Amino acid sequence: MAAIQKKTGFIVARGEVSPRHAEDQGSAPLPFRRRRACTENTCPVSDVNPHYLDHVVKLSETSDIEASEDIVSGTGMKLLAKGAKIDARARERLLEFRLNKPLENMMRVVGGTDPALFHPLAEQLLARHGLLRGICATVPEFDPIAVLRALELSDNVRSLLSVYAGQATSKLEHAVGVAVITSALGGSVSANPADASALAVAALTHDVGELYIDPAFLRRGVKLTSRQWKHVATHPIVGSHVLGAMPGAGPRIASVVMAHHERLDGCGYPQGTLGTSLSMAGQMLAVAEMLMGLMESGTHHGRRAAVAMRLVPGEFHRRFIDRVMQGAREDDETGAADPKGLDVHSLETRVSGLAATLAHMRDEHHALEPQLARFSAPLRALVAHASARWDRIGIAFSSTGLDGVADERLHAVLSAMSASELDEVDIVLRELEWRIGELERALQIRSELFGPEDARRVNDLIEQARQPMLLAAMAAAAS
Ligand SMILES: [Fe+2]
Ligand SMILES: [Fe+2]
Repeated sequence: MAAIQKKTGFIVARGEVSPRHAEDQGSAPLPFRRRRACTENTCPVSDVNPHYLDHVVKLSETSDIEASEDIVSGTGMKLLAKGAKIDARARERLLEFRLNKPLENMMRVVGGTDPALFHPLAEQLLARHGLLRGICATVPEFDPIAVLRALELSDNVRSLLSVYAGQATSKLEHAVGVAVITSALGGSVSANPADASALAVAALTHDVGELYIDPAFLRRGVKLTSRQWKHVATHPIVGSHVLGAMPGAGPRIASVVMAHHERLDGCGYPQGTLGTSLSMAGQMLAVAEMLMGLMESGTHHGRRAAVAMRLVPGEFHRRFIDRVMQGAREDDETGAADPKGLDVHSLETRVSGLAATLAHMRDEHHALEPQLARFSAPLRALVAHASARWDRIGIAFSSTGLDGVADERLHAVLSAMSASELDEVDIVLRELEWRIGELERALQIRSELFGPEDARRVNDLIEQARQPMLLAAMAAAAS
């Protein structure tokens, strides 16, 4: 397994998961492994990920999918001839044998996702989202839609994208939206058309790794166990593996896709890669992915984007913060806050819960300091990383001016705020709560890599962090 340079040790290392065996990282069983009596050398083990194949089979109900060459097993047996249909009837056969090369590189979706679809979709997204228009307007001399219009995709990339887009209309919209933002951000960094094209392909395909994950784990609103979350968190790695070996994509695009959930300060996933180890292209894609997610939920996208980019120092490159801030100012749909939209009582609960959690975690860290010398080096590094993250969250919280307000005065202080100020507090709280949840998930995943004693300590830390917020919510419910 290749070592990762400058990573914080969060979550997983490169090469731990292959697309075929992504399930190994989760708690789900391995439905594609044949459980028959056989020796290691003779037992046929499927090399095709069943979730990916299920998406292919589903798409085959509405589109023709065919073998673009003879599909041959690792032992030389022809499984499907060139031109044969890949559908439900071929499923078991493809799962039965290890193939001599990736299935994704040997199949074609006939009349699949046509790049000509991208720019009309991009125009629709621009019409819908003021923030998107604002970001594109920050480089008036560069047209991100022109990049999509000029894009040429290999048959394999087109087919992979067709399977991804076949899941739901929103999937292709997400991919195209991320591509527009990434291209707009890239337009100010490089004028090279080859760079722009590679960046657009990475942006369009950044989430194809999701095709290899149990769909039950990807449904909105599903509460995941740490094992299931770890499984989901592998999707950049899986997508990167698939694209790295695919004609028309390759290692350069794969490395950009790998970074699409990373952050400069090492608090992203899957690798927790730090600073200079992240390419500018990877950083642009990560910013675009975050912004598109934000535009796909709620309102006031410009204001939320401005907060999300600056709130916790160190997460994003200054260059992109400035661009997004400029784009957010040009967002013509930011609008005023809805005066009836926010409940002061619920905000009060969230503010006091967050304040208590941050104070509690500071105390916990002080209490832990004398014991750190007895901890293993990886555990010490993890505690240092989590503490630094808590400190940055604390600094971000203090930007609301509410961190020093005593509980008994909080209601009066919030009640005196304007709708716009309350809205700002809500946006900041939402961002910080999300980051706390993210830190908790990262710690849970990391705890699985430690021995029982260290894992218990990490889980204690997580429990300690949960208590004040839970108590505040219970107190609010009882009042
Ligand atoms: Fe995404
Ligand atoms: Fe993703």
